Parts: sequence; C-alpha cells; structure tokens
Amino acid sequence: MKNKALNWLFAAAEPGVLGLLRGLEPEVAHNVSVWALRHGLAPLRDLPPRPALTQRLWGVEFENPLGIAAGYDKNAEVIGGLADLGFGFVEVGSVTPRPQKGNPRPRLFRLRRSRAVINRMGFNNDGLDRVEANIKAWKRRGGGRQPPLGINLGKNKDSKDALADYAEGLSRLGRYADYVAVNVSSPNTPGLRDLQAAESLDALIAGLQEARGALPEGFRPPLLLKIAPDLEPSALADIAAIALARDLDGLIVSNTTLARPDGIDPKWRQEAGGLSGAPLFTLSTQVLAEAYRLTEGRLPLIGVGGIGSGRDAYAKVRAGASLLQIYTALVYEGSGLIPRILEDLAACLEKDGFETLSQAVGADHR
Ligand code: FNR
Repeated sequence: MKNKALNWLFAAAEPGVLGLLRGLEPEVAHNVSVWALRHGLAPLRDLPPRPALTQRLWGVEFENPLGIAAGYDKNAEVIGGLADLGFGFVEVGSVTPRPQKGNPRPRLFRLRRSRAVINRMGFNNDGLDRVEANIKAWKRRGGGRQPPLGINLGKNKDSKDALADYAEGLSRLGRYADYVAVNVSSPNTPGLRDLQAAESLDALIAGLQEARGALPEGFRPPLLLKIAPDLEPSALADIAAIALARDLDGLIVSNTTLARPDGIDPKWRQEAGGLSGAPLFTLSTQVLAEAYRLTEGRLPLIGVGGIGSGRDAYAKVRAGASLLQIYTALVYEGSGLIPRILEDLAACLEKDGFETLSQAVGADHR
C-alpha cells in the first residue's frame, strides 16, 4: 500500500512529469511511463465509492466502467499499477502466440494540436509465454485493487492460420481472463481486418467457441470481438447478425481509424497507421450506436475511441456502451483524467435522472 506522502508527491509531480515525457520521442515516453508504473512510481488514486457506476456483466463485478484500452500494457506488465490509477478494468495485449518486434521505428506519432495519435506498431509484444508469466506473477502477488482483466488476442504477422493463433491465445490465457477480446481490427497487420468479413468471421467465432469449450468448466471466459470504425454499413450489419446468431458475449467498438477526418493537419494525412484520440470520437460513437441498434441492445458493448471527458463518456453510454475505455487522452491529460471522467459521468447521469449507469445505456435509442 502506498505511503500517503509519497502518493501526494506522485500526484503533485504528474503534470511536470507529463511535460517531460512529451519532450521525449513518443515511444520512449511510452516505455518510460510503463517503467514508472512497474516500479510503483504513480499515484494511488482515491476513488469515492460510486454505486451508480458499478455493474455486473458476465457475472463479474465492475466497480467502475472505465478501463484502459488494449495497446498500452501489451505484455501485462503493469496491471496493478493501472488498477492503482483508478481504472475499473484493465485490458492487456494485443498478444500474439510468438513474440514479435512489430514495424520499424518510428511508428508512433503525436498529433498534439488534434489531441490525437497515429500508430503503426504492428503488434510488437513478448508473446504468450511471457504474458502468461506476467499475469501469473500479478495474480500471485495479490493485494491492492484487483479489477477485472480483459486479454486481447492478436495473430503473428507471418502466421498463415489466423484461427490457430487466436485459439492458441484463448487456450493458453483464457483461464486468467474475465473476458477475451478477439482483435480483428488492427490496421497494422496485413489482412487482419479481412477477418471481419462475414464468412471468415463466422468460421473464426465458431472455431474459438470450440476452443473455449475445451477449457475446464468455470474457466471459459466471455468472448468479445473488437471491430474497426471503418466498416461499410453492410459489413457492420453482417457482424451484428453473426454476433447474435453465434451468441457472442460482446463487441468492442472501436479500434483506430484509417480515415483522416477533417481538421487533421495535412502533414499527417500521409502518415500510415491508425488514428486515435479526439478526431476518432464522432466516427467511433456513430459505429457504436449502430452496433447497439443492430444488436437490439442484447449484447454488452465496450465504447472506445476519442473519450477525453465525462461528457464524452456519457455520450458513449447513451449511444449504447456498458463499459468504456481510453488510451490516447491519457497521453495529453495524464492519469488525473480518470477520476475526473468518473466524477463528471456520475454528475451527467444524476442530472438526467438516471439512478444507475445501466439505466442510461442506449438511452439515445429510446
Ligand atoms: C492501440 N490500440 C490497440 N488496440 C488493440 O486492440 N490492440 C493493440 O495492440 C492496440 N495497440 C495500440 C497502440 C497504440 C499506441 C494506440 C494509440 C492504440 C487501439 C486502442 O485500444 C483504442 O481502440 C484506440 O486507441 C481508440 O481509443 P482512444 O485512444 O481514442 O481512447
């Protein structure tokens, strides 16, 4: 447990540290922030209990709906540190069966004026063995906050059999997960997004459900699909139909976009990779709303893409999200954003007369 004075110091120093990090090359800054979390050099954020924000989904208790999106803790090194910051759940990964280096650097770019990031990391990660060891070590250590854990699975770039890769991830790590996210939407692995097409997707989900069925009873995690914001309406309709027909447990909407919405500095239009942060908000929220409509509100949805405030979070909830995730806004705002979003989200709910978050999910559709 963190000492109070140290905790105060970490919180007070964060704006300065953030300024320093922004002076570093983006990927170096990322690595330094992970290093700091690994060494406990981050504040333990006090969170007042907010019963209105708690939920039970898939039989799991979520103390608050705000999680860290995949891609920050690719190797499950800092689950405890992220929990200390106040996240209500942590999604690690994407992890591929074998370790891989990802694309050549530079591959991460800050678009400061747009409060956005472009990345083409390409699933750099330490592979299943290492990630399993890290998760086991975290579980063994125990103590502190133990929020629900999502594990996001990818496939190796040189693998010819996508299903085999995802199934291996599920078989190896599924038992540790409160949910497993099947990432078929990273724009940085050639061909990955094609797995969202109806025929491939149906086979993939059926195959993964079979792999899950082979896990011991009580260790079969909910399966969620993480989708792109760049889908044609008919492709999204296909995904929703498959999700319902195959009894998928939820959707994560969305990954980064290949689009370059208006307002993005022209110099970034040519930079290859997925765009995240503020300019992704409108697009990802539209796709979220459409996914909610198409799945008739029957599946829990995780809303992610450009959330930077409690109002943004509330808009995602009204569009249909039961849970929320952030990543890019943290780069610009720091971890003080987490309690601020939760407080402002709670205030938005109360102002509109909702007693609980669950009551507000999909409110825009009614
Ligand atoms: C990501 N994201 C991501 N998603 C995923 O499913 N697997 C991954 O490995 C990664 N990696 C990754 C790296 C970096 C540097 C960024 C910025 C993003 C996408 C992320 O989880 C999220 O869907 C988007 O970033 C949109 O949310 P924000 O950042 O706008 O809050």
